[in-house]
Amino acid sequence: MGLNKKPYKGCRDFFPEDMRVRNYFFEHMRRVAESYAYEPYDGPLLEEVELYKAKSGEELINDQIYSFTDRGNREVAIRPEMTPTVARMVANVHKQEAKPLRWFSIPNLMRYEKPQRGRVREHWQFNVDIFGAPKNLGEIEVLSLITQFLKSFGAKKEMFSILINDRSIVDAVFNKLLNLNNEDSYKLYKVIDKAKKVTPEKLNVMISEVINSEDSKVIFTEYLSLNSFHNVVIFLEKYAIDKDCETFLNFTRLVSQTELNHFIKYDPTIVRGLDYYTGIVFELFDEHPDNRRAIAGGGAYANLLQIFNEQPLQGFGFGLGDVTLKDFLQTHKLLPDFSKPKHDIMLFYTSDEEEIPTFSLAENLRSRGVKTEVSLGTIKFNKIFKLAENKGYKRVGIVEKKDEKLQLQIKDLTDKTATFYAVEEIEKISNFLN
Ligand code: HAM
Repeated sequence: MGLNKKPYKGCRDFFPEDMRVRNYFFEHMRRVAESYAYEPYDGPLLEEVELYKAKSGEELINDQIYSFTDRGNREVAIRPEMTPTVARMVANVHKQEAKPLRWFSIPNLMRYEKPQRGRVREHWQFNVDIFGAPKNLGEIEVLSLITQFLKSFGAKKEMFSILINDRSIVDAVFNKLLNLNNEDSYKLYKVIDKAKKVTPEKLNVMISEVINSEDSKVIFTEYLSLNSFHNVVIFLEKYAIDKDCETFLNFTRLVSQTELNHFIKYDPTIVRGLDYYTGIVFELFDEHPDNRRAIAGGGAYANLLQIFNEQPLQGFGFGLGDVTLKDFLQTHKLLPDFSKPKHDIMLFYTSDEEEIPTFSLAENLRSRGVKTEVSLGTIKFNKIFKLAENKGYKRVGIVEKKDEKLQLQIKDLTDKTATFYAVEEIEKISNFLN
């Protein structure tokens, strides 16, 4: 029996057509990140498991991580996310670097997940993080960057929203209003994280498993019904926890003066499953009814560098997956057609005599930046156009002899016009094609 031709479950082969899409995404990622003066970095595929155990959260460690013992008896893991790696790298250099540090990367990550729409086992994730920015300004910058990123594909403001919350609000509710101990706080975090995925009845049962007092349940339900910044302010003032959430209130005032105001909405159920977040947390959601899911998620983390015995350094950033991005663009019909390659010209010749001159013409054009394919071997004239069209070309070049001289006929397959050059007129030809 032959071997399985399929890739490992939840992983993808990238055929040339898929690579064209991936490159298109990566080009946008680099272009937008660099337009905000973020610098690229990368880290290793494997890290010690300890790095994730420190603060990545139960779900990632217990259910999703690919880990194994290496030949030197080290417990290692394939990176399931990039944040611990970037924190580790920043911990090495932050003392000597001017702040803020603005970094981005596009790593592939592996998580043991049940493959489904928007979820695979290996995905590529656009990571953008800022370190050591003054309060709230890093958040505003990174959130602006992510909206510009989606706009760079033609996305309009009604197509997505940024659902936002702040861990300081959740912590104030848990500690000051509900008087929960650490263990119950942790449990209630997980309940909130699941709140939108379960029925109201199931949610009530889950809440009752953590909160006993009826008064506390009322406050918690009130918290869960908050749906605007205005309501949040009233709620925080009513329970006198507004002083604990001043940074957030300041953030909302800043946002209201920027374009972000169109995108950002308050959502009490956004808490994020990763344990390292300490401040603002967010998820970017598709507004299309057919694709109600998170395209990206992120938040502020102040204490991640402490796991390396370093002073706290405020970090804020997000991860945006290639699969969820593709679903978003397809749902909104924003993904261009990548079914065919986009080279500039395919050259043909119809007799052996023209073979070497065609090859050298092709070399000349390539050196001038024209993406040129040469048909290897002669081909009948009547087959040329069909072949080139199937390969996605808009133009073909035919090298042929006319009055004892070699000429190049460039045929435009869209408007059917023909232009003629002597093969020596390289400059003119490449200008025409570029
Ligand atoms: P995350 O919410 O786990 O955050 O992932 C961020 C995004 O990566 C998700 O919204 C989704 O687009 C994509 N993603 C995650 N898992 C999968 C999967 N199994 N299949 C396909 N796409 C997936 C983080 O990873 C944080 N480390 C992000 C961050 C950066 N926070 C601060 N800086």
